[in-house]
Amino acid sequence: MHRLVIEGGTSLSGEVRISGAKNAALPLMCASLLTSEPVRFSNVPQLRDVATMIGLLGRIGVQVSRDERLGLEMRAERIAEPLAPYELVKTMRASILVLGPLLARCGEARVSLPGGCAIGLRPVDQHIKGLQRMGAEIHVEQGYISARSGRLRGARIVADMVTVTGTENLMMAATLAEGTTVLENSAREPEVSDLANCLNAMGARIRGAGTDVITIEGVERLHGAAHAIMPDRIETGTFLVAAAATGGAVRLNGTDGAILDAVLEKLCEAGAQIRVEPGTIALAMRRRPVGVSCRTAPYPAFPTDMQAQFMALDCVAEGTSVITETIFENRFMHALELQRLGAEIDISGNTAIVRGATRLQGATVMATDLRASASLVIAGLVAEGETTVERVYHLDRGYESIEEKLSQLGAKIRRVS
Ligand code: EPU
Repeated sequence: MHRLVIEGGTSLSGEVRISGAKNAALPLMCASLLTSEPVRFSNVPQLRDVATMIGLLGRIGVQVSRDERLGLEMRAERIAEPLAPYELVKTMRASILVLGPLLARCGEARVSLPGGCAIGLRPVDQHIKGLQRMGAEIHVEQGYISARSGRLRGARIVADMVTVTGTENLMMAATLAEGTTVLENSAREPEVSDLANCLNAMGARIRGAGTDVITIEGVERLHGAAHAIMPDRIETGTFLVAAAATGGAVRLNGTDGAILDAVLEKLCEAGAQIRVEPGTIALAMRRRPVGVSCRTAPYPAFPTDMQAQFMALDCVAEGTSVITETIFENRFMHALELQRLGAEIDISGNTAIVRGATRLQGATVMATDLRASASLVIAGLVAEGETTVERVYHLDRGYESIEEKLSQLGAKIRRVS
């Protein structure tokens, strides 16, 4: 098992390139199930979750070829077996995204229930309810969602809560349904829009992605297309927070300031100077950060996937801040580990009160999930002495070459096994 060893105390400085978005790449790859023609992706991030998705789709029958320039061609000429087995779904919940496309393409699918995970229960009832509204017959038996249908039928579906992958699953299914589907209370995340753009390039008729009402007119068939995956806004935000926490000055290339408004606003509030230009974001932090209070909510509000990183920033900032997590019921596990570095955090229900300390001290800490790991790396970059972050496999799921990129910015960080 790998760990990261960080010698804290260096301000990040320099330039780095942001990768394609994990949470856009995973649904986009599943969209390739909707056509027998090849779909080509560029700006594909090299991540463990992407490799897991290639494994799952390969098993289902998709032929995958990669090139060295971050390209991926996926061709689902024939579906071999419409099955997502437990062994794969338990390692990556996004596997549920094959359910809608498989059902739409071949009228049946068997997908393992994802089960709970470290950050919360994360049920998939909205995915199931939506597909049932479109005419699918769905049973949950022996831990599997077994779904059958003739051609799906368009329907008006009002989600009980905003769900990102739920919206994506139903939007993909609706592209091949008979008639029009209206998804109300949809997720407005930019990754949903990126998926809609690719589906439209494949011949789908989707309007309203990026708003909370998405309308999909079903078509008989989709065809191949080429699509460049959008930049990863959470990787971008993570590097910006790392630079701010270490009092650094960085320039991030290949990204987009327009999809990070809530995060950039919080960084400005913390005292950072930020310049956004087409394709780049530059940040300089010339003072001790001021603690910022954040409340997570669906896009365009402050993202839950940035909550842990801001908690690390608040730990070394001036003043007291309040962080409220409203999306997942158990997403404060990093707080206990941050305390091992000397952070002062009190948790009560879904609220964390963070009193900024003038210094943290290196220690061995254990990552429990992807974004929690990122917050520990940020804290390690600031802490005095050596911090060892165990269980780096969580980071490898969602951050491409994180230690290489941080080293490029001057961090003293190395991977050891
Ligand atoms: N929910 C239900 N029923 C459902 C679906 C969702 O109760 O059928 C609840 C969830 O339990 C949660 C809330 O609704 O409390 C929102 O969950 P959502 O479905 O939006 O989350 P997700 O689609 O499973 C995606 C990202 C997550 C990100 C969340 C929230 C992907 C592959 N994953 O998950 O990313 O935290 O949206 O923005 O897009 C990460 O990258 O680290 C990560 C966890």
